[in-house]
Formats: sequence, structure tokens, C-alpha cells
Amino acid sequence: MSATYRAVNWNAHKKKYDLIALACVALFVAVYVGVGSLVFRGNGAISAPVLAIRALGVCAVVMLHVVLMIGPMARLTHLAAPLLYNRRHLGVMTFVVALAHAALATLYYGSFGGANPLTVVLTMSGSGASPGAFPFVVPGAVALMVLFLMAATSHDFWLANLGAWWWKWIHMGVYGAYVCIVGHLALGVMQSEKSVVYLVMILVGAGLLSGLHIAAGVRAWKRDARTDDAVQGWIDAGALDAIPMGCAISVRARGHAPVAVYRHEGGVSAIHGVCAHQGGPLAEGRVVGGCVTCPWHGYQYKPEDGCAPAPYDDKLATHEVKVVDGRVMVRIEGDSR
Ligand code: HEM
Ligand code: FES
Repeated sequence: MSATYRAVNWNAHKKKYDLIALACVALFVAVYVGVGSLVFRGNGAISAPVLAIRALGVCAVVMLHVVLMIGPMARLTHLAAPLLYNRRHLGVMTFVVALAHAALATLYYGSFGGANPLTVVLTMSGSGASPGAFPFVVPGAVALMVLFLMAATSHDFWLANLGAWWWKWIHMGVYGAYVCIVGHLALGVMQSEKSVVYLVMILVGAGLLSGLHIAAGVRAWKRDARTDDAVQGWIDAGALDAIPMGCAISVRARGHAPVAVYRHEGGVSAIHGVCAHQGGPLAEGRVVGGCVTCPWHGYQYKPEDGCAPAPYDDKLATHEVKVVDGRVMVRIEGDSR
């Protein structure tokens, strides 16, 4: 959490997450190639390298959808929170799978003549497209460059050095990459593949993504719009029993930032509800190993004093809290926006 480079802090959860993700990628590619070689036989047989190129391309597209869906899903249900915690690794893996697809396609399709393989693939038109049509690999290559930029700057070192504004904008580029991939498919495979399967899959994917983003946005807007008036600085956060052990509720006084009210083994604590990393909603996190853990990327804070555990030095404001007749009262004063 400082501007100096610190290697990725591997823990058991991250290792398990990455192993499961790698196993899913290997299984997807193996099943795609296996089923493809069984279905396409005789005159219509597709060679193993082409099946592998296609399997890796489709796998990268599926992974990109999953990466983009995790954020809004985690805001709608706690069940998706474990997926969110290590989402950056999944993003980097998506780039690696897309790179494997691009490298194999360049080596395979670019090696038939004597010309430079890169020049060959970058000028290829989709089979079935009219002669002189825009080369379908160009939008794919743009998407790959955007995915590379995001993977290369995904470490917190870059967040600290580029600043949150630039980092956020670079990473919003994923939506541009998404549009480029749709262009790659529309100018390529959809020119020869006359069935509507690809079109339906693209529409379902884009519809799911936009539906989830809209639903999560409406929910966050409703929650943030609900504010209460403090009485002499104290605000009623709700019944203590309504807060599950190790979880929190969000409370917001008019004109103030949200506060996360946590129930944990040591009692009840109220800390500033916005994560110091990228503004994650701390009330949607959990207590893990005695620390409040942000649901977005796992930054941690001690509930008693809002300090990050050593060796980190972030600190969030805390609020006085008391339980009166089973109801949790939080003191919110001054300017805490
Ligand atoms: C320099 C970058 C890229 C190159 C050279 C490239 C090359 C190709 C080629 C040659 C094909 C046609 C394969 C065939 O029909 O046999 C193809 C299809 C495809 N590509 Fe790419 N691609 C690139 C980037 C990407 C990226 C970034 C993605 C996704 C994240 C992607 C996803 C796909 C998919 C889903 C297909 C259709 C596979 C199928 O026919 O089922 N490509 N690509
Ligand atoms: S926003 Fe990234 S850890 Fe909280």
C-alpha cells in the first residue's frame, strides 16, 4: 500500500483460486478440442491446431465475460464475493489465454507462405468475407494490446505511481477491448459461419453484462440515497441481532460518507465505509483473521482502530459506538464526506 514495488502477497486463498482457474481453462480447451474432433469428421474434419486456436479464443472471451460480471454480481449477492477477491489474477490469466490464441494463430496461419507471419495474419480477411474486406485480425490485435496494458499495470505499484484517475481510465479500456473482440468475431468467424449461434451468444453475453451492471448500479444508488438524520450526533444503525457475526451493515447520516458497522468477536465497531484502496464498500466485506476485509481486493483494517495490519500503514476513521436496548447507535459528527 505504498508507492514502492512489493511482490504479490500469495496466500492459501489466492493459490487455491489460481489453481481452480487454471484447471478450468485446461478442462475447457481439452473438452472443446475433444468434442470438436469427434463432431467434425471426414470431409468436414478440423485439424488439431485450428481447434486449439478456436478453443483458446472462445475460452478468452468466456473469461472476459466472467471477469466483467464478477464486480456487479458481488454487489448483488455475497455468494460472488470469493470470486471478486482475486479478480485481478483472473484478468491477467484472460490476457495470457488470449495471447496463446493469438500466438498460435500467427504461427499457424502465418507460416504457409514466405512472408512475415505477422503481416500475413494482420491482413487476412475472414473466409467468406468479400475480397478487400477490413482485416478481421486488426480489432483482435487492438483488444489484445488493451488486455496487455491492463495486465501489465494491474499491480498496486502502478496504481500508486499512475494515480487512481489514470489507473481507472486505463482499466476502463476493457470495455473498448470488448467492442474490438465483437468486431474481430463479426468480421471473421461470422462471415463464414452462417448459423445464428455466434450472434445469439454475443447478444446473450452483452445483455447479461449490461443487465448486471444496471441492476448493481440501481441497488448502490438506492442504498446511497437512503440517509438518516443524526440526533445530537448519534444515529440509529439498527438492531444488533440483525448484523450477522463477522459482517456489517452500512449506515449513512445526511451529508456524511457511509459508515460500516461491524459485529465481531470483540464487540461492535464502526469504521469509515469507503476503502482507502479504490473506494470499495467496506460494509459488504467480512471479518477475516480479526480484520475487516474489503470485498473488492482484500485490503484489511483492524475494526478497533481502523489501522491496516503491519506492514501496511493505511488508516480509516473510526466512530464511537454503543448498544442501547439492543439497538446499535453510532456517533457521526463533523465533516466525514
Ligand atoms: C493479435 C491478436 C489476435 C490474432 C492474431 C487472432 C487470430 C485469430 C484467427 C486467425 C482466428 C480464426 C481462427 C479460425 O477460424 O480458424 C480467430 C478467431 C477467434 N478469435 Fe482471435 N485473434 C487475436 C485476438 C483475439 C482476442 C484478444 C480474442 C478474445 C479475447 C480472440 C478471440 C477469438 C475468437 C472467439 C475466435 C473465433 C473462434 C471460433 O471460430 O470459434 N482473438 N482469431
Ligand atoms: S477497493 Fe481495493 S481493496 Fe478495497
